[in-house]
Amino acid sequence: MAEKCVLAYSGGLDTSVAIRWIADTYNVDVIAVAIDVGEERDYEGIRAKGEKVGAIESIVVDAKQEFFDEYITRAIAANLTYERKYVAFTALARPLLAQEQVRIARERGASLLAHGCTGKGNDQVRFEVTYAALAPQMRVIAPAREWNMTREEEIDYANEHNIPVPVGRKSPYSTDTNMWGRSIECGSIEDPSLEAPEDAWEWTVSPMEAPDEPRYVTIGFESGLPVSLDGEAMGGVELVGALNSIGGEHGVGRVNMMENRLVGIKSRELYECPAATIILEAHRDLESLVLDRETAHFKQHLELKWSEMIYYGLWFTPLRVALDAFMSETQKPVSGEVTVKLYKGRAEAVARKSDQSLYDFSLATYGDADVFDQSSSRGFIEIFGLPAKVVSMVRGLPE
Ligand code: ARG
Repeated sequence: MAEKCVLAYSGGLDTSVAIRWIADTYNVDVIAVAIDVGEERDYEGIRAKGEKVGAIESIVVDAKQEFFDEYITRAIAANLTYERKYVAFTALARPLLAQEQVRIARERGASLLAHGCTGKGNDQVRFEVTYAALAPQMRVIAPAREWNMTREEEIDYANEHNIPVPVGRKSPYSTDTNMWGRSIECGSIEDPSLEAPEDAWEWTVSPMEAPDEPRYVTIGFESGLPVSLDGEAMGGVELVGALNSIGGEHGVGRVNMMENRLVGIKSRELYECPAATIILEAHRDLESLVLDRETAHFKQHLELKWSEMIYYGLWFTPLRVALDAFMSETQKPVSGEVTVKLYKGRAEAVARKSDQSLYDFSLATYGDADVFDQSSSRGFIEIFGLPAKVVSMVRGLPE
């Protein structure tokens, strides 16, 4: 019996060619696995195509709920953001895809794992680091990194092997989508000195075309988890879907950035992520109301580290798990409601309330209700500023 290889399958040309190429080159049976993490596609069509082009079995896994429950909730707790702008949705989903592949490989007795990533990106790293952690004995095939075919050769190969090649004008862009966002690369986007063309965007209207009236959305959180929209209880998957469309109508969540890939390349990236933008704005705002200052400040450092680790594909590592234990502890008081104003591309938290609020009106007010004893500040500052005073007295005044 031939060895089996489980391939992460997208239904696109590259991974369709990969099915055939792996089977022929390595003399193995290929099992295609497509995973639904909230990209709205014809998954039955994708499944059927996998078999048609030569997989011995083609499987679709609906992982939307798991993606929300195990990955997005942690991303929210840690305010996942890479290089200040990218909510890292592709990076977040890769370990889940790889994890599902490994699970199926075990069930089917497969010894090989494969993905369609090129050798220039981050995704190959994320897949393979996850394989290494979860299935250290399994071998890896990365056809797009190995086959050395040009686009034209790949199309010839597809035609020779009865693999359907998309007809009509091919989109100039390369995209990746899940419920937390959509990425757009290639084509004219590769020239960072040019503004991105309007046709790159699909989820969001141009802020210039957005309604003149703002839309207010109120998001309820319980221990860091978003649980309601405008007062109505809602499951996470549904909530994210709703905010993607509402935010998209207001042009919210467009990102245009230069990004440092793990493999050393700088790339120009476009993202649209309305729901993630709104939820993270609301979540950070609620944290600013309920977290004590020291926890809040320290958490920012760990968020930076956590985000970098997720971007680098280090999900299944002890440090990520340990950092998540910290994040999870900090989320205990993060319950309440935040109202976010969506207006011409902006999402801004404008009002918030919580039973866990640490805001004390009688301490903050400059009005009659003030109970803060201003006379204690004198002694506090004297001691707080003492090190600076000592330095000046010993070494002279600063330049
Ligand atoms: N630059 C982003 C990242 O590394 C997006 C990658 C999109 N991946 C893709 N195969 N199109 O996470």
